[in-house]
Amino acid sequence: MKALILSGGHGTRLRPLTYSQQKQLIPVANKPVLFYAIEDAIEAGVHDIGIITGPNREQVIETVTSVDWDAEITFIHQGEPAGLAHAILVAEEFLNEDEFVMYLGDNILKDGITSHIEKFKKLNPDSLILLTQVEEPQRFGVAELDRNGKVKKLIEKPKVPPSNYALVGVYFFKPVILDACRNIKPSWRNELEITDAIQWLIENGYRVEASIVKGWWKDTGKPEDILEANRLVLDEIEYKNSGKIENSRIIGRVVVEDGSVIKNSIIKGPSIIGRDCRIINSYIGPYTSIGNECQVIETEIEDSVVMENSEVINAGRIVESLIGKNVKIRGKDTKPAGKRFIVGDNSDIIL
Ligand code: TTP
Repeated sequence: MKALILSGGHGTRLRPLTYSQQKQLIPVANKPVLFYAIEDAIEAGVHDIGIITGPNREQVIETVTSVDWDAEITFIHQGEPAGLAHAILVAEEFLNEDEFVMYLGDNILKDGITSHIEKFKKLNPDSLILLTQVEEPQRFGVAELDRNGKVKKLIEKPKVPPSNYALVGVYFFKPVILDACRNIKPSWRNELEITDAIQWLIENGYRVEASIVKGWWKDTGKPEDILEANRLVLDEIEYKNSGKIENSRIIGRVVVEDGSVIKNSIIKGPSIIGRDCRIINSYIGPYTSIGNECQVIETEIEDSVVMENSEVINAGRIVESLIGKNVKIRGKDTKPAGKRFIVGDNSDIIL
């Protein structure tokens, strides 16, 4: 069994962050989203992993190869992101007639994929798709199931949903999926859609089964999803302190990594402070991740993600924010008074 993890795509809904950063590398609880998928594959016993790269290929390769994984990793360049089924065709040589799990690199599943791999092996269908119950199926790809739980039909964002079972971004396939991908046409958005390829399997008499995801699942496609994923993952962290705490209070499950100094501050869990940070006269948390080498001085930050090497100084109170790498946010202590901005395209600021 192989894994094909998708780390291409333009990530337009996460601009401006994705102008400079591939979306699957955005950190959730200080770990790139993509690493959750790689870890899940390895935990489920898959050690032959292909990673699809797109616009920021070098970044993805550099980040992934900075870790010593218990797996052989092959990078497969997709070029233009022409759809999930297109990514499978691009990976044909890597897949080499083997069964595989395709995992969207911006998805996080609380309970991983081990139980679903077991179900795929036991039922031995041509494809096993993962589904989860959602409140607004109109916003998702939705599956219609028959009485035995077999998949009858897939519908993208249906006005009248046949069920409330939405497609999760993890799919298991036998090699016949390559025939399906070759036989479908691009959709209205000019992409080869995986839902069309699975529908092709169903219409051509192949067996598509479903496995239900019980724990939480998050697709981190939009800024609010990153914050929600950050909350969900932080909810499970354990207390750990390898930093230096001076005249400060640490409340609840907080992680402080090596080399960080917390001075005259309060950190409320669940929160994580990365390596070599300086947190001074500040209040952090709950539900906040501060990346490596950040400085937070005279500031309150709650329910937010601050990425590495950023400085937030004299900034008052910051909530529900996603702050990129190497960012400087400084309160004004100079005249003339007034707000000063150097802000990139498509930024979103609420004052
Ligand atoms: P999307 O969420 O559709 O990713 P996107 O980059 O197109 O996002 P946006 O709509 O904001 O522009 O795709 C799901 C996942 O698959 C995501 O991890 C990106 C990846 N992907 C590829 O690797 N190749 C592709 O051709 C496409 C369409 C997506």
